[in-house]
Amino acid sequence: MRVGAPASSVSTSGVTPMEIISSASEMQLHAEQARMQGKRIGLVPTMGYLHEGHLSLIALAKKSCETVVTSIFVNPTQFGPGEDFDRYPRDIERDKALCAAAGTTMLFTPEAKEIFPDGYATYISVDGLSTVLEGKFRPTHFRGVTTVVAKLLHLTKPHKAFFGQKDAQQCIIVRKMVRDLCFDTEIRVAPIVREKDGLAMSSRNVYLSPEERSDALILSASLRQAEQMAKGGQRRAADIISAIKKLIEEKRTAAIDYVAVVNAETLAPLEMIEQGIPSLIALAVRFGSTRLIDNTIITVE
Ligand code: PAJ
Repeated sequence: MRVGAPASSVSTSGVTPMEIISSASEMQLHAEQARMQGKRIGLVPTMGYLHEGHLSLIALAKKSCETVVTSIFVNPTQFGPGEDFDRYPRDIERDKALCAAAGTTMLFTPEAKEIFPDGYATYISVDGLSTVLEGKFRPTHFRGVTTVVAKLLHLTKPHKAFFGQKDAQQCIIVRKMVRDLCFDTEIRVAPIVREKDGLAMSSRNVYLSPEERSDALILSASLRQAEQMAKGGQRRAADIISAIKKLIEEKRTAAIDYVAVVNAETLAPLEMIEQGIPSLIALAVRFGSTRLIDNTIITVE
C-alpha cells in the first residue's frame, strides 16, 4: 500500500477539527476506520471554489452522517478539448476554511496523478442517458464524471453521497450507475441554491462580465415563466420551449445550446407536461465564453 504525506488537520475554534487527506490509500484507510467505529459516512464530491450550493450539500450531509467527507478535485477527464479545465477557478485555502466552518470532518484533495496515474485505462459510461442534453454538446463529459464519482465512492466508502439538482442530468446518471453497478451508497439530491436575484450559484459565475451577469438572470426568469405557463394550463412542450427561447434570445450576450422538456427520470423528450409526471425543463446557454446551465422540475397535480 502506498501512503502519502500524513493527514494534517485544521481546526477553527468551536468546530470539529477537519482532517486534510491527499493520498488515495490514506483516504481509504480513514474511511475504513470511520466505518469500524460505526460512523455513518457522507460524501460531498466537488471541484472546489466553493459557494453556498456546495455548502448546502455539506450541511445536509452533516444532518445524518458523523463523518462528512468533502472532496475537491478538478477532474480533468470531464472537461473536453477547448473547455475551461486550465482556467477553472481554484482557491484551496478559502475552500479549506469554508469546509471546516460548514462541518466537513475529512477534506480529500488528491492530486490528478493520484486519481489518474500514468497509464490509467478504465472508464465507466452510462449508455443512453449520457448522450442527450449536455452529452450532445459535451460528448465525453459524463464518462469523466461517472468514472471519477465511482473512484471517489471506492476511496471514501460513503453510506450516502450528496449531489445538487443544479446538475440534474448528472444526478440521474450517477443514480443509474450506482443502481447498475450495485454501489452500496444512497444518492441524495439537494435543491438548487440561487443568488438573491435568481441566478443559480455556480463556480463559473465568476467568469461573467457585468453585462453577461445581468443577461444571465433571464435563465431563472424564463424557467419561472415556464412554471407559470404550465400551472396556467399551457402544457405543450413546444410552446414552453419557444416561450423560453424567445425570452433568452432577447439578450445580447446569450447564445442558446438547448432548451428541453424531458421526463425527469428517463430524460426522454416530452410532447406534453402530463399530470403527476415530474417533467424536467433544462437549458444550457452561453454568455460570451461562459456556458451556464439551469433547470426546474415541474409536477402538475
Ligand atoms: P461541482 O460543479 O463543483 O459541483 C459539486 C456539487 O455541487 C454537484 O453535486 C453540484 O450539482 C452541486 N451544486 C453546484 N451548484 C449548485 C447550486 N447552485 N445549488 C445546489 N447544488 C449545487 O458537479 C461537479 O462538481 C462534478 O461533476 C463532480 C460531481 C464533483 C465530479 O467531478
